Amino acid sequence: TRVDKAGHKHFMAKEIAEQPTVIADALSHYLSSDGRDVSLPAGKLDFSRFDRLTLVACGTAYYACLTAKYWFEQLARLPVEVDIASEFRYREPPLSPQSGAVFVSQSGETADTLAALRYCAGKVDTILSVVNVDESSIARESDLALPIHAGAEIGVASTKAFTCQLTVLLLLALKAAKDRGTMTADAVEDMLAKLRGLPSAINAALELDEVFAQISRRLSEAEDALFLGRGLMYPLALEGALKLKEISYIHAEAYASGELKHGPIALIDKKMSVVVFAPRDPLFDKTVSNMQEVMARGGKVVLVTDHAGATDAGEGVWRTAVMPDIDAILAPILYAIPAQLLAYHTAVAKGTDVDQPRNLAKSVTVE
Ligand code: G6P
Repeated sequence: TRVDKAGHKHFMAKEIAEQPTVIADALSHYLSSDGRDVSLPAGKLDFSRFDRLTLVACGTAYYACLTAKYWFEQLARLPVEVDIASEFRYREPPLSPQSGAVFVSQSGETADTLAALRYCAGKVDTILSVVNVDESSIARESDLALPIHAGAEIGVASTKAFTCQLTVLLLLALKAAKDRGTMTADAVEDMLAKLRGLPSAINAALELDEVFAQISRRLSEAEDALFLGRGLMYPLALEGALKLKEISYIHAEAYASGELKHGPIALIDKKMSVVVFAPRDPLFDKTVSNMQEVMARGGKVVLVTDHAGATDAGEGVWRTAVMPDIDAILAPILYAIPAQLLAYHTAVAKGTDVDQPRNLAKSVTVE
């Protein structure tokens, strides 16, 4: 099927804009008809029989896995290891026969991820995959393949596939929490109700397009950018930095906010832009104090938060984008939108090739 830009300047813009629709679609495939429970396509998957999970992927899908680690551990008390496929496959890690292994891949054809899956065959209890292409090699070779229903993704930099991967992984974590008795049916139902509200929150975040376009015009003059976040916002900071470097070619890196003082703070001066993802969660105040350390050294802080009073966070905040309110558990999916819009508009301001960045491929099928 031919896919066109549907009036957008780039596929990436179209794919960013599609997220409320594709996430709603993904949810409709994984919720029971009354919307009150998680229902998996092939039925019988029971997380209470696993002693741990291993999540493996490359690129953006790897950051989806890192996010899912927080969910599985927090919600389902299930220990999770996450690895980059190219490391995992050659390290020959010992695996528990009672464990589950989850491979996340948009294309389902990434060579390293497929090799990592093959390494796990026969060594773990169940091989799961979370893929966008249902008939891919990774889907075929897993015991249960869970499609993310994002639709064709053309832009090399992954956007809607990332948020759909997160959505499916969160649903799995909720299913695991129920199977393992760490969340009551009511608590799961409550979270699912919030998840059903996510597409409209994403629509509201997309309305901030012009805010992020303005910030990006300044960001496009930067040579370096640092992304900071804690807890669930740490993997998102990593994804934000990856998006920015992929398409705007600005050097960007991400740190867990608490690690700032162990190195990157040495880089902070007036020329450094620092993007901080800080929704109102139990770690908010700690992130604010990390941010103040940046501002005290002249760093230009872009604060992305849902904390209405966040303007008190300090006079030195260069720009604040106020996001819609969201439960902290769902924040990584919503805050993916600013991460994407910042990268997109910065690339547009620089005039780089947004959909086909230099040296990158959509799917890396050779090693
Ligand atoms: C390439 C793409 C990335 C993608 C990664 C993993 O590097 O440019 O956008 O995240 O491969 O691809 P996969 O298809 O396995 O998700």
